[in-house]
Amino acid sequence: MQQELELLRKNALAEFEEIKNLIELENFEIEYFGRKDGKLNNVLRSLKDLSDEEKKKFGQLSNDIKIELLSLVETKKSEMRQKEIADKVKNEKIDLTLPGKKFVKGSLNPTSIVQYELEDLFRSFGFIVLDGPELESDYYNFESLNIPATHPARDTQDTFYIDNDGEEKTVLRTHTSPLQVRAMQEYGAPLRAIAPGRVFRNEALDASHDNTFYQLEGMMIDRNISIANLIAVMKSLLKGILKKDVKVRLRPGFFPFVEPGFELDISCLICGGRGCSVCKQSGWVELLPCGMIHPNVLRAGGIDPVEYSGFAFGLGLTRLVMMRYGIDDIRLINSGDLRFLKQF
Ligand code: DAH
Repeated sequence: MQQELELLRKNALAEFEEIKNLIELENFEIEYFGRKDGKLNNVLRSLKDLSDEEKKKFGQLSNDIKIELLSLVETKKSEMRQKEIADKVKNEKIDLTLPGKKFVKGSLNPTSIVQYELEDLFRSFGFIVLDGPELESDYYNFESLNIPATHPARDTQDTFYIDNDGEEKTVLRTHTSPLQVRAMQEYGAPLRAIAPGRVFRNEALDASHDNTFYQLEGMMIDRNISIANLIAVMKSLLKGILKKDVKVRLRPGFFPFVEPGFELDISCLICGGRGCSVCKQSGWVELLPCGMIHPNVLRAGGIDPVEYSGFAFGLGLTRLVMMRYGIDDIRLINSGDLRFLKQF
C-alpha cells in the first residue's frame, strides 16, 4: 500500500509537470480527484479492507498526498488564469482613430423655442407666467368673457364640445382668453400675467389653419391703465421677439371681451408684404388682437371696473413662429415630421 501510494504520487507529480493549459489541468483534476473514478479516491475507498492501524497510517498518508497535489493545482490554476488575462490585454489594441458613435440629440419644437423666449421677455417686464386647462368649462371659455350662449361670436370659434353625462358641458378651449378671468379670480388686481398654451378649433385645414395651434394671452390690470400702455407693451413685445423693425398697423377689431378692441397686424414676413398664401394675398398678417378689458369681464374676475382698468391681448403664437422662421404651412408644425423638426 505504501508503495502504491508513493508510485501514485510520483506519477501524479510527473504528469503535473507536463500540464500546459487550463484544459489539461482540469483533466488532471478529474483523473486524480474525480468523485467517481478518481485515482486518489479509489485508493481511499480500498482502505476499508485494512486493519484499524493500517487505516490510520495510510489514510493519513493519502490525505497528505491529496492536500499536496490539490494545492499545486490551485496555484497553477490561478497562475494560468492571470497569464490568460495578461495575454489578452497585450494582444488587444484600441484604435483611437476610429470614428465614435454619433449621439442622437433631440431638439425643441419651434413653438417651444419662441414660447420660452416670450416667457423670458415678459418676466423681464414683471409679468407672471400662467397655465390653464385645455379642457375648459363653457363658462370660462365663453360666458365669463361676455359671450353668452346665443352670441354670434361663438360661430367664429366653433370647437369640440364634450358631453359630460348631464354635468356641465366642457369644450376644448378655443383660445387662451379664459385665463383672463381665471387669473383675476386667483390673483386679483393689480395684475400682470401671460398664459401661453394650446388651443383648438373646428377648422377647414389649409396652409394657415390647423385644428390645434398655440396662443399667448396677456393682461395688465392696474389703476389708470390706458391704450397708451397697451401700445407701448405691444411694441416692446414685437421688438423683443422679432429683433427687427417690422411694419405694424392698428385697426378696430371686435371681440366681446374688450372695449375698445383692436387688430394689430404686422407686414407679412414670408412674402415681405407682396402677398402669399399665408397672408391670404393681403400682405398683412393678423398677429396681435388686443383691447381694453370689458367691464363685464373685470367684474366676472371679481375686480371693480371703476377702480381698475386693464388691457389684454391674444398673441397668435403659432403664427408668430411661422413669421419668425419663414414656415409657409401651419400643418408642418404639429406634423411630427423629423425632416422639419431637425431644422431647429
Ligand atoms: N381670444 C381671441 C381669439 O382667439 C383673441 C383676443 C382678442 C385675445 C382680443 C385678447 C384680446 O386678449 O384682447 O380670437
